[in-house]
Amino acid sequence: MITVRFLTSGREARVAESTSLLRLSIREQGGIPFKCGGGVCGTCRCKVEAGRDHLEAVTPKERRHLTEAELADGWRIACQALVIGDVSVSWPEAGSKR
Ligand code: FES
Repeated sequence: MITVRFLTSGREARVAESTSLLRLSIREQGGIPFKCGGGVCGTCRCKVEAGRDHLEAVTPKERRHLTEAELADGWRIACQALVIGDVSVSWPEAGSKR
C-alpha cells in the first residue's frame, strides 16, 4: 500500500497501485488544484515535503513549468508525477502568490 498525505488539505489516502499524484488527489479528494490534467497549465504544482524518492523521475513537461531551483526544492507537477511509494505533499493555497 502507498500512503499519500495531502498536507494542505489535511487528507490522507492509502492506495494499492501507483498512479499520478493528481489522479490520486482527485480520486481521494486530496484537494490539489488543477485545470488541464495534461501537463499544460502548471496549476497542479505542488511541493513534495517527504518521500521525494517515491516519485518517478521528473518529466520534460514538468521541466517546462519548474526551474531547476524549484525542482531541487521538491516541486513537482502533480498530473505528471507518478507516485511509487509514500509521499507527503503541500501546495499554494488558492489566491496565494507562487
Ligand atoms: S493540471 Fe495542468 S499541468 Fe497539471
